[in-house]
Amino acid sequence: MNIKKGTEIEILIQHLNINGKGIGKYEDYNVAVNRCFPGDKVICVIKKIKRNYIEAELVKVVEESGLRVPARSKHAQYSGSPWEVLSYDYQLEVKQKEVERIIGNTGNDNTQILDIIGMDDPWYYRNKMQFSFGYDENMSPVLGFHVSGRRYDIYDLEEDFLCEEWIPEFVNYFRQRTLKAGFTPYRFKNGEGQLRELTVRVGKRTNQVMVILSVSEQMPTEEANKILEQAMHDLPYINSVWLEVVTVQAGRRTEKILTHIAGDKDIQEKLITNNQEMTYQIGPNTFFQPNTHQAEVIYQKVADLAHLDGTQTVYDLFCGTGTIGLSLASNSKHVYGIDLVEESIEKAHHNQEINKIQNATYIAGDIFKTKLDWPNPDLVVFDPPRAGLNPKLIEYITSLAPKQIIYVSCNLKSFAHDLEAFKEHGWSLKSIQPVDQFPHTRHLEVVGELTYADNTC
Ligand SMILES: C[S@@+](CC[C@H](N)C(=O)[O-])C[C@H]1O[C@@H](n2cnc3c(N)ncnc32)[C@H](O)[C@@H]1O
Repeated sequence: MNIKKGTEIEILIQHLNINGKGIGKYEDYNVAVNRCFPGDKVICVIKKIKRNYIEAELVKVVEESGLRVPARSKHAQYSGSPWEVLSYDYQLEVKQKEVERIIGNTGNDNTQILDIIGMDDPWYYRNKMQFSFGYDENMSPVLGFHVSGRRYDIYDLEEDFLCEEWIPEFVNYFRQRTLKAGFTPYRFKNGEGQLRELTVRVGKRTNQVMVILSVSEQMPTEEANKILEQAMHDLPYINSVWLEVVTVQAGRRTEKILTHIAGDKDIQEKLITNNQEMTYQIGPNTFFQPNTHQAEVIYQKVADLAHLDGTQTVYDLFCGTGTIGLSLASNSKHVYGIDLVEESIEKAHHNQEINKIQNATYIAGDIFKTKLDWPNPDLVVFDPPRAGLNPKLIEYITSLAPKQIIYVSCNLKSFAHDLEAFKEHGWSLKSIQPVDQFPHTRHLEVVGELTYADNTC
């Protein structure tokens, strides 16, 4: 058969790939299809053809896989948590196998691959949600999430089981006061409209809530302020409200101005690791691990691997608000941290103060361009964004001869890729601990321990 773009084909899905797509065979081609699962018989339409690989879009599931379970959310078929239709045990199994497959391909044959740590209750785990204003397929203004796989279509959120029970009511409150009051969603196509995004951040252990309303410069500021002030009054669980005004101008960098409107400027979250409860400040722009419970699991794992006894110098690279380093500080000689975002470093200093940590130093800077003016490390902890590290940084840090490196990653692909550069400098992966930080999605976190060849015997 002549394979052409636009042709509909029927295939049986055999496994999931690292991007969470279902993979089946069609003639000699591997076919990747979104939103389907091993055992599903599907009709899909061909979108892209490469040498022996086809990307296709799901048209319909003809026969459902026995692995499917009823979805909890009515939005599951297009939401950001597509694995809701798989049992949680199976989700963990897929993630574990993926770690084994990918690490197995890196040549780190002696790595101890530990069993993934999942959640006892994999619901209501997220501490941050970002909702978009936009239009649905009927061009009605809505507030909800992007339809997965499409850039501009939004669905109106009615249910949510990932963040807090009050989220649907909260979203509806803002929907009434923005869209139903006549303000319009911003349209990327023509740059017209006023409302862009609504973000909520929650301290899971403190019950503190921050709200950030993001608008275009076409929104009258006093109206936006009124909406936020009224929300503070009407929704007693909100502690902090911010307004972000985004100005897009052709040929110029998009300008984003954040203004604190009412309540506290920050919220706090507490994490218990290493038998100590630490308090961390979260600002509107600061990074915080999205799953508070599993963040504790990750940081505890780092502490367990580190075996600190108060004599070690620790580098916390990509430190964010200092969370990992500060949780290690009481057992270290000194902790040094660096992050690109100034606001995160301000918070790291503040977090240091509120947790009464004296032995930590934080600087704002780009780790890829900074020569670190610190004593050589015993332990280096990396926790980069999805893109991972690069060979130059790996060369630089390994040249400082640390005794141990712990690499926390939310992207198994870039993690595995970086192992090659570590190998060139004599470092190998001793163990890897997968942690399910993102139930019902294909994503996972790993904590890897690397040791220098001379240290392994
Ligand atoms: C995955 S977060 C980890 C933050 C922190 N370790 C935590 O657990 O909350 C990655 C961090 O890397 C920072 N970052 C991104 N690029 C960077 C760079 N070039 N130099 C330094 N920090 C960077 C981000 O600002 C972000 O805080």
